[in-house]
Amino acid sequence: MSDKNKYTIRKLSPYFCAEIRGIDLNGPLDDELIKSIRSDLEAHEVLVFPEQDLTSEDLMRLGRYFGPLTVHPFAENSEKNPELIVFDYKDGNPPVLTDRWHSDETYKLCPPMATMLYSRIVPEIGGDTCFSSMTTAYDFLSTKTQDFIRGLEAVHDFASYKYLFPDTEKGRQLLQRKELEYPPIAHPVVRIHPSTQKKTLFVNPHYTRYIKNMDQRDSDALLAQLFNATSVLEYQYRHQWKPKMLVMWDNRSVQHAAVHDYYPHHRYMERITVGGDKPISETEPTTVEQLRKFKVPTYDHNDSRRAKRQFEIES
Ligand SMILES: [Fe+2]
Repeated sequence: MSDKNKYTIRKLSPYFCAEIRGIDLNGPLDDELIKSIRSDLEAHEVLVFPEQDLTSEDLMRLGRYFGPLTVHPFAENSEKNPELIVFDYKDGNPPVLTDRWHSDETYKLCPPMATMLYSRIVPEIGGDTCFSSMTTAYDFLSTKTQDFIRGLEAVHDFASYKYLFPDTEKGRQLLQRKELEYPPIAHPVVRIHPSTQKKTLFVNPHYTRYIKNMDQRDSDALLAQLFNATSVLEYQYRHQWKPKMLVMWDNRSVQHAAVHDYYPHHRYMERITVGGDKPISETEPTTVEQLRKFKVPTYDHNDSRRAKRQFEIES
């Protein structure tokens, strides 16, 4: 590495997360440096850059070094720059939704590869962000459980945002438009990281609804078990913010949750999101025959002997 691109890196937790000092992110950055940061991001999953003086334009330019920025369909996007999300939470504008464990936007066909969050105003106390390594969570599952969940697919959707749409004709139309744009999507439960080839547990309680083809009772029980992995203290890192910190996380391998304990105090953050790939698995999807034993045949849309339901009867 050339001298101008050298920086120091310090691990923040035994399994993941590192702090980087010694570089300014607000200027033009060359390929060598970006490659090195990308490699550290993939290795450490969360990178913390303290004392960075960034404008919103700097933040967006920085993100674009790692890939195209995406627009969040439900967030408080900046009017001028839709790729920029502004979290300006204070008295009268409480934080919503971000306090559940999740990876960002997994209801999309191609969820983001990385998210960058930058702090401008932080409360004196509270307002931490918690991270949990899903690579570590997968590694520490028993071999039996790893074997069982390999090949499973889980369905993700944006149902947790539905209440943001008012129960008016306009609100229902807007919701319907979003439902057409973002239909429920199946992702592998065990995802292969496209760069490190490590396996990560890719289900989260915010967006994951059920295991495809599995009986609902079994699916609920299995998801509860897998969601619980985020709560294992050893897999976690809890980040305390100071102003002018940039935190970048690999959205393919960690989950995060914001702590809303600071309300009504002021917390002003900016976020950008870098587009990612369609999650892939190392195996073929498990079939319905491998997952269930049916007491009676399943509902068949095409069976002409089946009684018609009211919505199917043409007038
Ligand atoms: Fe998030």
